[in-house]
Amino acid sequence: MKSDRSLARSVAFPRVINVHDFRRLAKKRLPAVVFAYIDGGAEDEVTLRENVAAFGDITFRPRQCVAVRSCDLRTTVLGETFELPFLLAPVGFCRMFYPKGELHAARAANEAGTGYILSTFSGTRLEEVRAATSGPLWFQLYVPGGRDVAEATMARAKAAGYTVLVVTIDTPMSGMRERDFRHGVRPILQKDLWGSLPYAWQFVTRPRWVLDYCADGRPSVFPNVELPGKGAMPCGDVGMILESTIVTWDDFRWMRDAWKGPIVVKGVHTGDDAKRAIDAGTQGLVCSNHGGRQLDGVPATLRALPEVLDAVNGRIEVLMDGGIRRGGDVVKAIALGAKAVLVGRAYAWALGAAGGPGVARAIDILRTDIVRTLRLLGCPSIRDLDRSYISTDSRHYPR
Ligand SMILES: Cc1cc2nc3c(=O)[nH]c(=O)nc-3n(C[C@H](O)[C@H](O)[C@H](O)COP(=O)(O)O)c2cc1C
Repeated sequence: MKSDRSLARSVAFPRVINVHDFRRLAKKRLPAVVFAYIDGGAEDEVTLRENVAAFGDITFRPRQCVAVRSCDLRTTVLGETFELPFLLAPVGFCRMFYPKGELHAARAANEAGTGYILSTFSGTRLEEVRAATSGPLWFQLYVPGGRDVAEATMARAKAAGYTVLVVTIDTPMSGMRERDFRHGVRPILQKDLWGSLPYAWQFVTRPRWVLDYCADGRPSVFPNVELPGKGAMPCGDVGMILESTIVTWDDFRWMRDAWKGPIVVKGVHTGDDAKRAIDAGTQGLVCSNHGGRQLDGVPATLRALPEVLDAVNGRIEVLMDGGIRRGGDVVKAIALGAKAVLVGRAYAWALGAAGGPGVARAIDILRTDIVRTLRLLGCPSIRDLDRSYISTDSRHYPR
């Protein structure tokens, strides 16, 4: 049975049947450069495509004649219980997709009983996001500007009540996302008026977005990164600043001292790095290739996951992300051994298309998919999933 709220949401979006429909709507509402930022991947986008395709190579092994009338989707990650087995991944500068985008995404996640991970490169102050909801919030850390800047941000996140620090390690420099460049990201971010002129058409044709962006104060800085003597970090400086402050395993020492709480490392996709994450004293890891946005040519995370799980051998909690577009994908990742998953584009498209109600509807869609998949599998609870419910035999769907 659908709750009244989720029924109202499906009525509000009559043409949205799955999250791909939000992708289509986001493309209609957003200027091409903003849509490309959400949608694109690095270089030839091989990893981006493989992240999605890999789910097609896993097939289900249902148990028939099992009466499953309701399903329990609750899961506990690092001591926090969530109503859903997926959290919303850190996505930088959501405020460009929708006014105060981070607030809306966090609220939608928390209303659904799950967690939201705020990016360092959020367009909204972390305190403001915290004040917008009482649900679970984690903070994703980059170290632009170095250790002192990061420690100041971590202290703010801790004081505000963020519970888990998620340290992203796959970004020693920005990946080459060619679609961004084709749509003029460089002159636009650098506020080069002449250079931006050839790309102006994409804004002229999206007046609603332009009005929203202006009404939101035309945000162009990251207010959670205070650079000494400069103030909030300008968005245009991301590439240069990331390259000047690379995270190494040694940094986890000072991070542990400064944070004094659970730390999850995001961006692991080999067994060796999984072991290093354990040695670095982290409590969890996310098997992730940044949604195919960094090093093109790494395997789909779903394919990297078994090696990572074997190396971890139950010592810390393993999450995964990359390519999740349906609830069935969530079920496959958890059956393979992930504790929970993160979704990125599946909610970013919805935010870009329709703000908070869009994110809430995207979450509903994934939730309903998961319940349907479990019932058709004959599995009453997400916690009962194991490898016996899936097959990785490539003969089932030869590609
Ligand atoms: C537009 C966009 C911005 C992102 N920004 C960040 C970020 O600031 N920090 C981070 O750790 N990961 C970031 N990611 C990666 C996501 O956290 C996540 O790993 C990825 O989106 C998962 O793949 P999926 O989009 O296929 O679900 C970003 C992803 C997208 C699509």
